[in-house]
Amino acid sequence: MSKILAPSLLAADFANLERDIKMVNESDADWFHIDVMDGVFVPNISFGMPVLAAINKHAKKTLDVHLMIVDPDRYIETFAKLGSDILTVHYEACPHLHRTIQGIKDAGMKAGVSLNPHTNINLLEDVICDIDLVLIMSVNPGFGGQKFIENTYDKVRALKALIDKKGANTLIEIDGGVNSNNAADLIEAGADALVAGSFVFKSEDPKKTISELKIIMG
Ligand code: DX5
Ligand code: ZN
Repeated sequence: MSKILAPSLLAADFANLERDIKMVNESDADWFHIDVMDGVFVPNISFGMPVLAAINKHAKKTLDVHLMIVDPDRYIETFAKLGSDILTVHYEACPHLHRTIQGIKDAGMKAGVSLNPHTNINLLEDVICDIDLVLIMSVNPGFGGQKFIENTYDKVRALKALIDKKGANTLIEIDGGVNSNNAADLIEAGADALVAGSFVFKSEDPKKTISELKIIMG
């Protein structure tokens, strides 16, 4: 399967969101990565439902929604109605993760689970076959533009081994500090999808940066 690049709209120009969404539509990117933060699970607030509705009006690619919120079960139906294709919740925010995963699937979406940098991948052993995607945080969630945590490579390799051992079909996605220096190594370690925010949107020519990253990813 060819590798997936998901530009994070958190780094887009919110005053020109339609322009930036169209750029991604026309680019070599595969998904839109959308970061929803509640100011409780993470120390920052990004945007919520009305903005996601506006994004959905223009976006023509898969909506990969990353919920950095407490008690995400409250909003599963809402995010399905807003057009989310993949809904990712945090392991650390879900005391009944198995139930949450089933709820996401019952609502017609792919189910993702995200792990903070300190959370060991082995904690997913008993649910890995139920998960469509694991989002490994390679920075502490809450802000774009942070420095990539090098321990991520070991986590990706360990998760890949767990997925293979269990015969699961789970995709591995990496989020935070992704750039042209670490993209190839992350794919080599076993990643299927990479999120890139600042590296894409703060570059001089974001569309060209997306094409270049895709080439690096192979
Ligand atoms: C961070 C978010 C990321 C963020 C990545 O909490 O989950 O998706 O937008 O941004 P960069 O690529 O700038 O680290
Ligand atoms: Zn994210």
